[in-house]
Amino acid sequence: MSSGPDDRHVRIYEVGPRDGLQNEAVPIPIDAKLRFIELLVDAGLREIEATSFVSPKAIPQLADADDLVARLPSERGLRFPVLVPNERGLARAEAAGVDAIAVFTAATDAFTEHNIGMTIDESIAAFAPVLARADELGWWRRAYVSTAFGCPYTGRVDPRAAVEVAVRLMSIGVDEVCFGDTIGVGVPDQVTTLVGLASDAGISLERQAYHFHDTRGTALANVVSGLAAGIRTFDSSTGGTGGCPYAPGAAGNLATEDLVYLLDASGFDHGVSLEGILTAARFIADALGKPLASKVGQAGGWDQRTGQATGRPPGSDASSLLR
Ligand code: HMG
Ligand code: MG
Repeated sequence: MSSGPDDRHVRIYEVGPRDGLQNEAVPIPIDAKLRFIELLVDAGLREIEATSFVSPKAIPQLADADDLVARLPSERGLRFPVLVPNERGLARAEAAGVDAIAVFTAATDAFTEHNIGMTIDESIAAFAPVLARADELGWWRRAYVSTAFGCPYTGRVDPRAAVEVAVRLMSIGVDEVCFGDTIGVGVPDQVTTLVGLASDAGISLERQAYHFHDTRGTALANVVSGLAAGIRTFDSSTGGTGGCPYAPGAAGNLATEDLVYLLDASGFDHGVSLEGILTAARFIADALGKPLASKVGQAGGWDQRTGQATGRPPGSDASSLLR
Protein backbone atom coordinates (compact mmCIF):
# COMPACT_ATOMS: atom_id res chain seq x y z
CA MET A 1 0.00 0.00 0.00
CA SER A 2 2.66 2.53 0.98
CA SER A 3 5.41 3.50 -1.48
CA GLY A 4 7.92 2.24 1.12
CA PRO A 5 10.14 3.93 3.64
CA ASP A 6 12.90 4.68 1.08
CA ASP A 7 10.62 6.71 -1.09
CA ARG A 8 11.36 10.18 0.27
CA HIS A 9 10.81 12.09 -2.96
CA VAL A 10 7.72 14.29 -3.24
CA ARG A 11 6.47 16.00 -6.40
CA ILE A 12 5.21 19.50 -5.74
CA TYR A 13 2.79 20.58 -8.47
CA GLU A 14 2.45 24.35 -8.31
CA VAL A 15 -0.97 25.83 -9.11
CA GLY A 16 -0.38 29.46 -8.07
CA PRO A 17 -0.42 31.09 -11.51
CA ARG A 18 -3.68 29.27 -12.41
CA ASP A 19 -5.75 28.46 -9.29
CA GLY A 20 -4.01 31.22 -7.32
CA LEU A 21 -4.88 33.98 -9.75
CA GLN A 22 -8.22 32.83 -11.22
CA ASN A 23 -10.27 34.15 -8.31
CA GLU A 24 -8.43 37.40 -7.53
CA ALA A 25 -10.22 40.71 -7.93
CA VAL A 26 -7.04 42.65 -8.75
CA PRO A 27 -6.06 42.19 -12.41
CA ILE A 28 -2.43 41.11 -12.70
CA PRO A 29 -0.54 42.34 -15.78
CA ILE A 30 0.94 39.61 -17.96
CA ASP A 31 4.51 40.76 -17.24
CA ALA A 32 3.92 40.29 -13.51
CA LYS A 33 2.47 36.80 -14.10
CA LEU A 34 5.53 35.86 -16.15
CA ARG A 35 7.88 37.25 -13.52
CA PHE A 36 6.02 35.23 -10.86
CA ILE A 37 6.47 32.08 -12.97
CA GLU A 38 10.18 32.85 -13.47
CA LEU A 39 10.61 33.17 -9.70
CA LEU A 40 8.83 29.83 -9.21
CA VAL A 41 11.21 28.20 -11.70
CA ASP A 42 14.19 29.85 -9.97
CA ALA A 43 12.94 28.33 -6.70
CA GLY A 44 13.23 24.87 -8.24
CA LEU A 45 9.63 24.08 -9.21
CA ARG A 46 9.44 21.98 -12.38
CA GLU A 47 5.67 21.59 -12.80
CA ILE A 48 3.70 24.80 -12.77
CA GLU A 49 0.07 24.99 -13.87
CA ALA A 50 0.37 28.19 -15.83
CA THR A 51 -3.15 29.27 -16.88
CA SER A 52 -6.49 28.09 -18.32
CA PHE A 53 -7.89 27.93 -21.84
CA VAL A 54 -11.43 28.51 -20.62
CA SER A 55 -14.02 31.10 -21.55
CA PRO A 56 -12.70 34.59 -20.80
CA LYS A 57 -16.25 35.44 -19.74
CA ALA A 58 -16.05 32.73 -17.06
CA ILE A 59 -12.51 33.58 -15.88
CA PRO A 60 -11.46 37.06 -17.10
CA GLN A 61 -8.34 36.89 -14.87
CA LEU A 62 -6.82 34.32 -17.26
CA ALA A 63 -8.00 35.84 -20.56
CA ASP A 64 -4.35 36.41 -21.53
CA ALA A 65 -3.64 32.64 -21.63
CA ASP A 66 -2.65 32.51 -25.31
CA ASP A 67 -0.08 35.31 -24.96
CA LEU A 68 1.17 34.01 -21.64
CA VAL A 69 1.90 30.50 -22.96
CA ALA A 70 3.83 31.97 -25.90
CA ARG A 71 6.15 33.72 -23.44
CA LEU A 72 6.74 30.93 -20.88
CA PRO A 73 10.33 29.94 -20.08
CA SER A 74 11.53 27.37 -22.62
CA GLU A 75 14.32 25.60 -20.75
CA ARG A 76 14.25 21.80 -20.73
CA GLY A 77 12.70 19.83 -17.89
CA LEU A 78 9.85 22.24 -17.18
CA ARG A 79 6.19 21.34 -17.52
CA PHE A 80 3.51 24.02 -17.73
CA PRO A 81 0.10 22.31 -17.81
CA VAL A 82 -2.95 24.39 -18.69
CA LEU A 83 -6.63 23.75 -17.93
CA VAL A 84 -8.72 22.74 -20.94
CA PRO A 85 -12.50 22.24 -20.59
CA ASN A 86 -13.49 21.42 -24.19
CA GLU A 87 -12.41 21.20 -27.86
CA ARG A 88 -12.30 24.98 -28.17
CA GLY A 89 -9.78 25.06 -25.32
CA LEU A 90 -7.83 22.24 -26.95
CA ALA A 91 -7.58 24.16 -30.24
CA ARG A 92 -6.29 27.22 -28.37
CA ALA A 93 -3.81 25.11 -26.41
CA GLU A 94 -2.57 23.45 -29.60
CA ALA A 95 -2.13 26.79 -31.35
CA ALA A 96 -0.27 28.18 -28.34
CA GLY A 97 2.14 25.21 -28.31
CA VAL A 98 1.49 23.59 -24.94
CA ASP A 99 2.54 20.00 -24.20
CA ALA A 100 0.60 19.28 -21.01
CA ILE A 101 -3.08 19.74 -20.16
CA ALA A 102 -5.50 19.18 -17.32
CA VAL A 103 -9.17 18.47 -17.85
CA PHE A 104 -11.50 19.05 -14.92
CA THR A 105 -14.77 17.61 -13.72
CA ALA A 106 -16.10 16.78 -10.25
CA ALA A 107 -17.65 14.17 -8.01
CA THR A 108 -21.04 15.92 -8.18
CA ASP A 109 -23.17 16.97 -11.14
CA ALA A 110 -24.17 20.18 -9.34
CA PHE A 111 -20.62 21.49 -9.11
CA THR A 112 -19.72 20.38 -12.64
CA GLU A 113 -22.77 22.16 -14.03
CA HIS A 114 -21.96 25.39 -12.20
CA ASN A 115 -18.29 25.21 -13.14
CA ILE A 116 -18.32 24.08 -16.77
CA GLY A 117 -21.99 23.89 -17.74
CA MET A 118 -21.99 20.08 -18.12
CA THR A 119 -23.03 17.05 -16.09
CA ILE A 120 -20.31 14.58 -15.12
CA ASP A 121 -21.37 12.30 -18.00
CA GLU A 122 -21.30 15.19 -20.46
CA SER A 123 -17.88 16.29 -19.23
CA ILE A 124 -16.42 12.82 -19.71
CA ALA A 125 -17.91 12.66 -23.20
CA ALA A 126 -16.42 16.10 -23.94
CA PHE A 127 -12.97 15.15 -22.60
CA ALA A 128 -12.63 11.86 -24.52
CA PRO A 129 -11.76 13.44 -27.90
CA VAL A 130 -9.67 16.14 -26.19
CA LEU A 131 -7.57 13.51 -24.40
CA ALA A 132 -7.33 11.34 -27.51
CA ARG A 133 -5.92 14.26 -29.49
CA ALA A 134 -3.58 15.16 -26.64
CA ASP A 135 -2.36 11.56 -26.65
CA GLU A 136 -1.68 11.72 -30.40
CA LEU A 137 0.35 14.86 -29.79
CA GLY A 138 2.29 13.16 -26.99
CA TRP A 139 1.08 15.58 -24.32
CA TRP A 140 1.03 14.86 -20.60
CA ARG A 141 -2.56 14.64 -19.31
CA ARG A 142 -4.05 15.15 -15.87
CA ALA A 143 -7.73 15.05 -14.82
CA TYR A 144 -9.18 16.71 -11.75
CA VAL A 145 -12.03 15.33 -9.67
CA SER A 146 -13.19 18.39 -7.77
CA THR A 147 -15.49 18.32 -4.74
CA ALA A 148 -13.99 14.94 -3.80
CA PHE A 149 -14.49 15.74 -0.09
CA GLY A 150 -17.60 17.92 -0.19
CA CYS A 151 -19.71 20.00 -2.56
CA PRO A 152 -20.79 23.63 -2.07
CA TYR A 153 -24.17 22.82 -3.67
CA THR A 154 -25.05 19.30 -2.47
CA GLY A 155 -23.04 18.86 0.72
CA ARG A 156 -21.56 15.52 1.74
CA VAL A 157 -19.80 13.52 -0.97
CA ASP A 158 -19.42 9.77 -0.82
CA PRO A 159 -15.73 9.04 -1.54
CA ARG A 160 -16.84 6.12 -3.72
CA ALA A 161 -18.50 8.66 -6.05
CA ALA A 162 -15.20 10.54 -6.42
CA VAL A 163 -13.35 7.29 -7.12
CA GLU A 164 -15.93 6.19 -9.68
CA VAL A 165 -15.40 9.43 -11.63
CA ALA A 166 -11.62 9.01 -11.33
CA VAL A 167 -11.79 5.48 -12.74
CA ARG A 168 -13.83 6.72 -15.70
CA LEU A 169 -11.27 9.46 -16.32
CA MET A 170 -8.41 6.95 -16.20
CA SER A 171 -10.26 4.84 -18.77
CA ILE A 172 -10.30 7.70 -21.29
CA GLY A 173 -6.56 8.20 -21.06
CA VAL A 174 -4.97 10.36 -18.40
CA ASP A 175 -1.55 10.08 -16.80
CA GLU A 176 -2.84 11.02 -13.37
CA VAL A 177 -5.97 11.95 -11.52
CA CYS A 178 -6.00 14.71 -8.97
CA PHE A 179 -8.60 14.68 -6.20
CA GLY A 180 -9.59 18.22 -5.24
CA ASP A 181 -10.87 19.39 -1.87
CA THR A 182 -12.35 22.39 -3.63
CA ILE A 183 -13.98 23.95 -0.58
CA GLY A 184 -11.46 22.74 2.01
CA VAL A 185 -13.71 20.57 4.17
CA GLY A 186 -11.71 17.32 4.19
CA VAL A 187 -9.87 15.88 7.20
CA PRO A 188 -7.02 13.34 7.41
CA ASP A 189 -9.10 10.18 7.96
CA GLN A 190 -11.03 10.96 4.79
CA VAL A 191 -7.78 11.24 2.86
CA THR A 192 -6.75 7.79 4.09
CA THR A 193 -10.12 6.41 3.03
CA LEU A 194 -10.02 8.03 -0.41
CA VAL A 195 -6.45 6.88 -1.12
CA GLY A 196 -7.40 3.34 -0.11
CA LEU A 197 -10.58 3.27 -2.22
CA ALA A 198 -8.81 4.71 -5.26
CA SER A 199 -5.97 2.18 -4.91
CA ASP A 200 -8.45 -0.67 -4.51
CA ALA A 201 -10.15 0.53 -7.69
CA GLY A 202 -6.87 0.10 -9.57
CA ILE A 203 -5.50 3.66 -9.52
CA SER A 204 -1.90 3.24 -8.40
CA LEU A 205 -0.45 5.59 -5.79
CA GLU A 206 1.87 7.10 -8.42
CA ARG A 207 -1.12 8.13 -10.50
CA GLN A 208 -3.02 9.82 -7.66
CA ALA A 209 -2.42 13.48 -6.80
CA TYR A 210 -4.14 15.55 -4.10
CA HIS A 211 -5.15 19.21 -4.21
CA PHE A 212 -6.12 20.68 -0.88
CA HIS A 213 -7.62 24.10 -0.31
CA ASP A 214 -6.81 25.36 3.16
CA THR A 215 -10.21 26.91 3.83
CA ARG A 216 -10.49 25.39 7.31
CA GLY A 217 -6.81 24.94 8.09
CA THR A 218 -6.73 21.18 7.44
CA ALA A 219 -4.63 21.12 4.25
CA LEU A 220 -1.25 20.29 5.81
CA ALA A 221 -2.78 17.67 8.09
CA ASN A 222 -4.32 16.14 4.98
CA VAL A 223 -0.90 16.09 3.29
CA VAL A 224 0.57 14.24 6.28
CA SER A 225 -2.20 11.69 5.98
CA GLY A 226 -1.60 11.38 2.21
CA LEU A 227 2.14 10.89 2.78
CA ALA A 228 1.47 8.14 5.32
CA ALA A 229 -0.78 6.42 2.79
CA GLY A 230 1.98 6.54 0.15
CA ILE A 231 0.91 9.57 -1.91
CA ARG A 232 3.87 11.51 -3.31
CA THR A 233 2.23 14.25 -5.45
CA PHE A 234 0.64 17.31 -3.86
CA ASP A 235 -0.61 20.56 -5.34
CA SER A 236 0.08 23.88 -3.70
CA SER A 237 0.01 27.58 -4.47
CA THR A 238 2.87 29.91 -3.64
CA GLY A 239 1.57 32.64 -1.38
CA GLY A 240 -1.48 30.54 -0.48
CA THR A 241 -3.68 32.33 -3.00
CA GLY A 242 -6.48 30.60 -4.85
CA GLY A 243 -10.07 29.50 -4.97
CA CYS A 244 -12.71 28.67 -7.51
CA PRO A 245 -15.26 31.36 -8.42
CA TYR A 246 -17.86 28.57 -8.78
CA ALA A 247 -17.24 27.31 -5.23
CA PRO A 248 -18.71 29.95 -2.90
CA GLY A 249 -16.52 30.41 0.16
CA ALA A 250 -13.53 28.57 -1.33
CA ALA A 251 -10.29 30.01 -0.02
CA GLY A 252 -6.67 29.65 -0.96
CA ASN A 253 -4.80 26.50 -1.79
CA LEU A 254 -2.32 25.01 0.61
CA ALA A 255 0.63 27.44 0.42
CA THR A 256 3.74 26.03 -1.27
CA GLU A 257 5.95 27.60 1.42
CA ASP A 258 4.01 25.79 4.17
CA LEU A 259 4.26 22.49 2.25
CA VAL A 260 8.00 22.95 1.58
CA TYR A 261 8.66 23.68 5.25
CA LEU A 262 6.81 20.55 6.36
CA LEU A 263 8.57 18.36 3.79
CA ASP A 264 12.04 19.76 4.57
CA ALA A 265 11.59 19.35 8.29
CA SER A 266 10.23 15.82 7.82
CA GLY A 267 13.14 14.68 5.64
CA PHE A 268 11.41 14.52 2.24
CA ASP A 269 13.27 15.79 -0.81
CA HIS A 270 11.49 17.79 -3.51
CA GLY A 271 14.05 20.07 -5.17
CA VAL A 272 12.41 23.33 -4.12
CA SER A 273 14.12 26.08 -2.14
CA LEU A 274 12.09 27.60 0.68
CA GLU A 275 13.88 30.93 0.35
CA GLY A 276 13.14 30.97 -3.39
CA ILE A 277 9.46 30.25 -2.77
CA LEU A 278 9.27 32.99 -0.14
CA THR A 279 10.71 35.46 -2.65
CA ALA A 280 8.03 34.45 -5.18
CA ALA A 281 5.33 34.54 -2.48
CA ARG A 282 6.26 38.09 -1.47
CA PHE A 283 6.32 39.13 -5.10
CA ILE A 284 2.78 37.87 -5.79
CA ALA A 285 1.43 39.23 -2.49
CA ASP A 286 2.79 42.67 -3.45
CA ALA A 287 1.29 42.39 -6.93
CA LEU A 288 -2.09 41.55 -5.39
CA GLY A 289 -1.72 44.23 -2.72
CA LYS A 290 -2.35 41.70 0.06
CA PRO A 291 -0.42 40.45 3.07
CA LEU A 292 0.87 36.89 2.75
CA ALA A 293 -1.71 34.43 4.03
CA SER A 294 0.66 31.54 4.70
CA LYS A 295 2.10 30.68 8.11
CA VAL A 296 5.68 30.29 6.85
CA GLY A 297 5.26 33.44 4.74
CA GLN A 298 4.67 35.33 7.97
CA ALA A 299 7.10 33.57 10.29
CA GLY A 300 9.88 32.49 7.90
CA GLY A 301 11.41 29.02 8.01
CA TRP A 302 13.48 27.28 10.66
CA ASP A 303 16.36 24.92 9.95
CA GLN A 304 15.77 21.69 11.88
CA ARG A 305 19.51 20.82 11.97
CA THR A 306 20.86 24.15 13.17
CA GLY A 307 17.85 25.63 14.89
CA GLN A 308 18.39 28.82 12.92
CA ALA A 309 15.65 30.92 11.36
CA THR A 310 15.67 30.94 7.55
CA GLY A 311 13.94 32.91 4.84
CA ARG A 312 12.72 35.78 7.01
CA PRO A 313 11.52 38.91 5.25
CA PRO A 314 14.38 41.40 4.81
CA GLY A 315 14.76 43.59 7.90
CA SER A 316 12.93 41.23 10.25
CA ASP A 317 14.67 39.57 13.16
CA ALA A 318 13.61 37.42 16.08
CA SER A 319 12.95 40.36 18.39
CA SER A 320 10.71 42.12 15.87
CA LEU A 321 8.71 38.89 15.51
CA LEU A 322 8.17 38.74 19.27
CA ARG A 323 6.80 42.22 19.54
P1 HMG B 1 -20.82 27.52 -21.75
O1 HMG B 1 -21.36 28.91 -21.69
O2 HMG B 1 -21.64 26.44 -21.12
O3 HMG B 1 -20.46 26.99 -23.19
O4 HMG B 1 -19.38 27.53 -21.10
P2 HMG B 1 -20.58 27.52 -24.65
O5 HMG B 1 -19.96 26.44 -25.49
O6 HMG B 1 -21.99 27.93 -24.90
O7 HMG B 1 -19.64 28.81 -24.75
C1 HMG B 1 -19.98 30.07 -24.22
C2 HMG B 1 -19.03 31.10 -24.77
O8 HMG B 1 -17.68 30.78 -24.35
C3 HMG B 1 -18.98 31.15 -26.29
O9 HMG B 1 -18.62 32.48 -26.64
C4 HMG B 1 -17.83 30.25 -26.62
O10 HMG B 1 -17.22 30.52 -27.85
C5 HMG B 1 -16.87 30.55 -25.52
P3 HMG B 1 -19.74 33.54 -27.14
O11 HMG B 1 -20.37 32.89 -28.31
O12 HMG B 1 -20.69 33.71 -25.97
O13 HMG B 1 -18.93 34.76 -27.43
N1 HMG B 1 -15.98 29.44 -25.19
C6 HMG B 1 -14.66 29.57 -25.05
N2 HMG B 1 -13.83 30.63 -25.16
C7 HMG B 1 -12.53 30.42 -24.95
N3 HMG B 1 -12.01 29.21 -24.62
C8 HMG B 1 -12.80 28.15 -24.48
C9 HMG B 1 -14.17 28.30 -24.71
N4 HMG B 1 -15.23 27.47 -24.68
C10 HMG B 1 -16.31 28.16 -24.98
N5 HMG B 1 -12.28 26.97 -24.13
C11 HMG B 1 -17.23 26.64 -20.51
C12 HMG B 1 -18.65 26.32 -20.93
C13 HMG B 1 -16.58 25.34 -20.12
C14 HMG B 1 -16.51 27.28 -21.67
C15 HMG B 1 -17.28 27.66 -19.33
O14 HMG B 1 -18.18 27.20 -18.36
C16 HMG B 1 -15.92 27.86 -18.70
O15 HMG B 1 -15.01 28.38 -19.34
N6 HMG B 1 -15.75 27.45 -17.45
C17 HMG B 1 -14.44 27.59 -16.79
C18 HMG B 1 -14.61 27.37 -15.35
C19 HMG B 1 -13.29 27.44 -14.64
O16 HMG B 1 -12.23 27.73 -15.21
N7 HMG B 1 -13.36 27.19 -13.32
C20 HMG B 1 -12.19 27.23 -12.48
C21 HMG B 1 -11.28 26.07 -12.69
S1 HMG B 1 -11.82 24.57 -11.89
C22 HMG B 1 -11.18 24.70 -10.31
O17 HMG B 1 -10.74 25.76 -9.91
C23 HMG B 1 -11.08 23.48 -9.45
C24 HMG B 1 -9.65 22.91 -9.39
O18 HMG B 1 -8.75 23.88 -8.88
C25 HMG B 1 -9.60 21.68 -8.49
C26 HMG B 1 -10.26 21.89 -7.12
O19 HMG B 1 -9.97 22.88 -6.43
O20 HMG B 1 -11.05 21.00 -6.77
C27 HMG B 1 -9.16 22.47 -10.77
MG1 MG C 1 -8.50 24.38 -6.77
